[in-house]
Amino acid sequence: MRLDRALRDAEAGRTRREAEKLIAAGRVSVNGIAVRSADAKVDPQTDAICLDGRPVMSRQFRAYMMNKPAGVLSATEDRAAQTVLDLLPEPLRRLGLSPAGRLDKDAEGLLILTNDGDLIHHIITPKRRVEKRYFVRLAFPWQADYGDKFAAGITLDDGYVCLPARFAGIEGEQAGYVYVCEGKFHQVKRMLAALGNEVTYLKRLSVAGVELDETLRPGEVRELSEEELFRLKNSGIWHKNCPEK
Ligand code: URA
Repeated sequence: MRLDRALRDAEAGRTRREAEKLIAAGRVSVNGIAVRSADAKVDPQTDAICLDGRPVMSRQFRAYMMNKPAGVLSATEDRAAQTVLDLLPEPLRRLGLSPAGRLDKDAEGLLILTNDGDLIHHIITPKRRVEKRYFVRLAFPWQADYGDKFAAGITLDDGYVCLPARFAGIEGEQAGYVYVCEGKFHQVKRMLAALGNEVTYLKRLSVAGVELDETLRPGEVRELSEEELFRLKNSGIWHKNCPEK
């Protein structure tokens, strides 16, 4: 629908002329960007529409980041083990949130939780090439050729050839950063195992450049900012012929 219409619907009593004036004055933003044309097309279900920086309507879709602790499953339910949903404050448990891509039980760090199925698909499909960055500690020293091997596409134990990825070792440490655009089962651990190494600690630091908020204690969540949501939604590859894998 048109932006001026969305604004009128959101705040009953506002006339079309008033809505147009607010928009023309640059006081209305859509997903964090000021929009000055009243006929701009918006989807009130998914777009964050703000007046003077404050949301004008409740969105159906919500997205949060969690600092996932080790020892918790990235699942919505499990009969035996604690899941990330069990860690949510009570009101958030009713939103129907699911993790956008799993982290292993022993892994920590950034987990996006949302009830927006399109956003989950966008983040996890290898087709979009949305980059995830991990910090790894290794059992053995990393080798100078890891960067080239990651870039060439590492072959996993089941014969799967990974998409080009990146490894950046930390000088003087048995540790480094891994950047991947897909999320096969235990992928980072298996990539390093394929090079004869072993991951002893794994933490996801960012997704599409959205960084883990290090002020979150393990198990805590906070809602994504408009800017973070915008970044996630517009990350990766969008051209219509982009390869499936
Ligand atoms: N790669 C892994 O091996 N484990 C994770 O949890 C995420 C990426």
